[in-house]
Amino acid sequence: MSQLSLESIKQRVLPDLQTVDAAIRARLTTDVVLVNQVAEYIIQSGGKRVRPLVTVLAGRACNVSGSKLAAAAAIVEFVHTATLLHDDVVDESNLRRGHETANAVWGNQASVLVGDYLYSRAFEMMVDLNHMRIMDVMASATNKIAEGEVLQLMNANDPETTEADYMEVIYRKTAKLFEAGTQIAAIIANASAEHEQALKQYGKHLGIAFQLVDDVLDYRANREELGKNLGDDLAEGKPTLPLIHALKHGNSSQQQLIRHAIEHGGIESLSEITAAIESTGGLQYTAQRARQEADLAIQSLTALPDSDFVRALDELAEFAVSRGY
Ligand code: IPE
Ligand code: IPE
Ligand code: MG
Ligand code: MG
Repeated sequence: MSQLSLESIKQRVLPDLQTVDAAIRARLTTDVVLVNQVAEYIIQSGGKRVRPLVTVLAGRACNVSGSKLAAAAAIVEFVHTATLLHDDVVDESNLRRGHETANAVWGNQASVLVGDYLYSRAFEMMVDLNHMRIMDVMASATNKIAEGEVLQLMNANDPETTEADYMEVIYRKTAKLFEAGTQIAAIIANASAEHEQALKQYGKHLGIAFQLVDDVLDYRANREELGKNLGDDLAEGKPTLPLIHALKHGNSSQQQLIRHAIEHGGIESLSEITAAIESTGGLQYTAQRARQEADLAIQSLTALPDSDFVRALDELAEFAVSRGY
């Protein structure tokens, strides 16, 4: 069901997305064999391409399309892919997009280095766009993502992590890139300051909702549909919102169990912890927070003139909260 709705949104900008794909493929080539192998492997392995989709729709909502917009969308996907290569090393994950992670196949060193390659390629592509404000937005977004991942590392194994700490992490590590994608689309379109601001807010709230749902899916998803292992967050002692909520509202034995799991990581008690999260309403609460963020995203769209593309952005916010993958 959710798959159908993402595909139907993509149908509306199919030629744009094909141009984005071509831009991605054109910029992957290098004579360094290992870079090619790893980069091709992760890029062709079938991510949802939600960020380029959002970028293209934001541009279209401001009446722009074409090669600059496609390049901007490709840049955003390169940065995203670079973060995933690094993230799977840090999280010690071994399944992504239904396949073994690059670190599982080639090792941590290759993943980190090819991640660096993709970041730097994205920056070359930004220079080609020759627009200082786009450079500014993307450079600071990339910097914030790195801060978010480091903040998250600092929170790992810390049961005192609060909901506010968590929200700050997900804004930086995930939502910033969505926000940057919609904002640079508006910049390419020469949109008014009001429209740029509205799209930026849309991207921010969509990105927060997207990560909240990702953190629900880490406890409650169909592994095959998700294409990632469940329990990766718990394995790392990562205090995501479902766990923070359960720790706050659980009874004393649940609190003890969760505190221990955050401090030490590991998935030995995954089913007990999941039960504690369920019984304290942790997943429901997180899903509800995601719904609120999706509503804020949708509200931001009212500043834009109505169009098929604005309606598609609205549907994408619905997809973000109803998805199972
Ligand atoms: C995964 O993002 C990382 C998060 C920020 C949650 P996606 O769910 O968009 O991953 P792909 O690109 O579709 O694999
Ligand atoms: C998102 O966090 C990662 C980045 C923003 C780089 P997660 O660690 O939850 O993402 P997944 O679940 O591995 O895709
Ligand atoms: Mg991860
Ligand atoms: Mg996750």
